[in-house]
Amino acid sequence: MIPFVDLKSQYASIKEEVNAAIQGVLDTCQFTLGSEVAAFEEEFAAYCGAMYGMGVNTGTSALHLALLAANVGPGDEVITVPFTFVATVSAIHYTGAKPVFVDIDPRTFTMDVTAIEAAITPRTKAIIPVHLYGQPADMDPIRDIAKRRGLVIIEDACQAHGAEYKGRRTGSLGDMGCFSFYPGKNLGAYGEGGMVVTDNPEYARTIRMLRDWGAERKYQHVLKGYNYRLEGIQGAVLRVKLRHLEAWTEARRAAAARYDRLFAGSVVPTPQAMPYARHVYHIYAIRTNQRQAWQDALNAQGIQTGIHYPIPVHLLPAFADLGYTASQFPHSEQAANEVLSLPMFPELTEDQCEVVSRAVRGLASKSQETKSLASAL
Ligand SMILES: Cc1ncc(COP(=O)(O)O)c(C=O)c1O
Repeated sequence: MIPFVDLKSQYASIKEEVNAAIQGVLDTCQFTLGSEVAAFEEEFAAYCGAMYGMGVNTGTSALHLALLAANVGPGDEVITVPFTFVATVSAIHYTGAKPVFVDIDPRTFTMDVTAIEAAITPRTKAIIPVHLYGQPADMDPIRDIAKRRGLVIIEDACQAHGAEYKGRRTGSLGDMGCFSFYPGKNLGAYGEGGMVVTDNPEYARTIRMLRDWGAERKYQHVLKGYNYRLEGIQGAVLRVKLRHLEAWTEARRAAAARYDRLFAGSVVPTPQAMPYARHVYHIYAIRTNQRQAWQDALNAQGIQTGIHYPIPVHLLPAFADLGYTASQFPHSEQAANEVLSLPMFPELTEDQCEVVSRAVRGLASKSQETKSLASAL
């Protein structure tokens, strides 16, 4: 059995450190925000190369508050991609603004930067590039457009802790960067968590208030805020895990390089890491037009896979009211039909990579044979 992710073996490797950190919170009873969260905010912001970090309860809340800090609201438009987790778009919806989609670049699964200008209207306020799967979007062209057109950039870095664009870490590439610490993420809490990082002190101040009922001081509510606070136990766990993140990221990158080598010379399309990127492989997705059959066959061999994501957001029933139709974003739609995420986690062994790639190569050559048989008939 090869799992898709293996949180148990990771916990086993840091058990003592984590247990001691949790015990520390139990001893101080700082269960919500508190000193562990404050220390983690400082450490994670520094890790991203940003000045300020504001811990919140989820990545979705991070996106929501970043949009509010940028003054996005009803009547505004926010440009993003439909090939993302639904949360990116839900966060825009929470503010009352309208999500406007542009397609992805099929090589990278991130925003097609050549499609942005055409989507800008006088109502456009912000752009949310999504660093999907752990590879940063092509940020220089996005930054040029945002600067010229006066738009705020909010990075959805929920899958891209420690990823780099031309040597700079995600979170420090736009005006604000949003992270999720959902347990399965590259840096995952033992529960829910999220953070906004920024260099802008005004955004930082606003988000700090909004996450805690809009309060400047206790009971001094100067903004209509939310209960989006990060819990003390999550702060303590995340501090421990942050110390291991670089080693885990290198292990993921080594596993991805191993998969790449094992698939070399086969017809299996593997992920493309762009020259500008340090890809952190939250997801290692291959492509196939026989996905269901492959997923079933791998499952039967004890290999768990995932699909990130099977329906692009513009075709989800929940967002039918946006008025988009099929074939408007062909690259997103094709990716949604074809991507298949292979097991990927830092503890993935060489043997496990070999078993997975042998099984996938077997399926690929069987598909090839069927295809050439069909064309011969
Ligand atoms: C790209 C993307 N955006 C946003 C989110 C939302 O994060 P959370 O689940 O912490 O709310 C996630 C993760 O779930 C994500 O993968």
